[in-house]
Amino acid sequence: MRPAFKNYIGVMDSGLGGISVLQEMTRELPNERYVFFGDSAHAPYGEKSVETVQQLTLSIVEKMAAEGVKAIAIACNTATSAAAGLLRKTFDMPIIGIEPALKPAATSADSHRVLVMATPVTLSLKKYHDLWEKYAGYADCASQPCPGLARRIEQGNLDAPDVIEMLTRFLGPYRGKIDSLVLGCTHYPFVKKQIRQVLGDGVKLYDGGRGTARELHRVLASRHALRRPEDGPGGVVFKSSIDTPEEIQLYKMFYHMNLEE
Ligand code: DGL
Repeated sequence: MRPAFKNYIGVMDSGLGGISVLQEMTRELPNERYVFFGDSAHAPYGEKSVETVQQLTLSIVEKMAAEGVKAIAIACNTATSAAAGLLRKTFDMPIIGIEPALKPAATSADSHRVLVMATPVTLSLKKYHDLWEKYAGYADCASQPCPGLARRIEQGNLDAPDVIEMLTRFLGPYRGKIDSLVLGCTHYPFVKKQIRQVLGDGVKLYDGGRGTARELHRVLASRHALRRPEDGPGGVVFKSSIDTPEEIQLYKMFYHMNLEE
């Protein structure tokens, strides 16, 4: 992994899902330089063993650390749950993670019935169980694992009928029964439009991207590690373990997708 930048933020995910978080980061901190690494050759992480996810995450962060990255953002709920603790013990630099946005969803005054969709690994780990213990009591909450969905999103072509079919299988039973949905995997914001087709327009969608970008801002500011406009322009370099021009093109297409509601 050869960095095109010095003094940059390394953003990683199991694949292209983390680009939904990267969008929020470049909006929040446009002067920064980012290298996004998607491990698409090994996606999905959300259906692998915890040990495998730890190993894959560690080896990506090791390479970024060796190249002098100033902070790491794990733009993946699964890798955060499985490996953030380990990474924080191993590397002496800010490691920012992401978790399903259950707190804002469940504690919002107009949320009564909340569904969290995430990968099987995220939903099975202690980090999520702790989050559940703390916030699920504020509303009527349920969790839905979505095996196969991140893998399908990796393939692009998101307007194809099989995406709606898959979402209908996972979410159809909740139509008319929930008012808030937590997108607990960074791949899922890319199918917000299709989720609305399945659940209808009345459901509020929550994801952790903006909160993670703000956290990155806070952490870098507290360390006086933010770039200044006079340091030159910010920017993004995309890298992938599927190292082909087509894959990088797909990442760029996802980066320019409008995810605002
Ligand atoms: N994007 C990841 C997440 O936020 C994981 C998807 C996967 O590889 O299973 O959980």
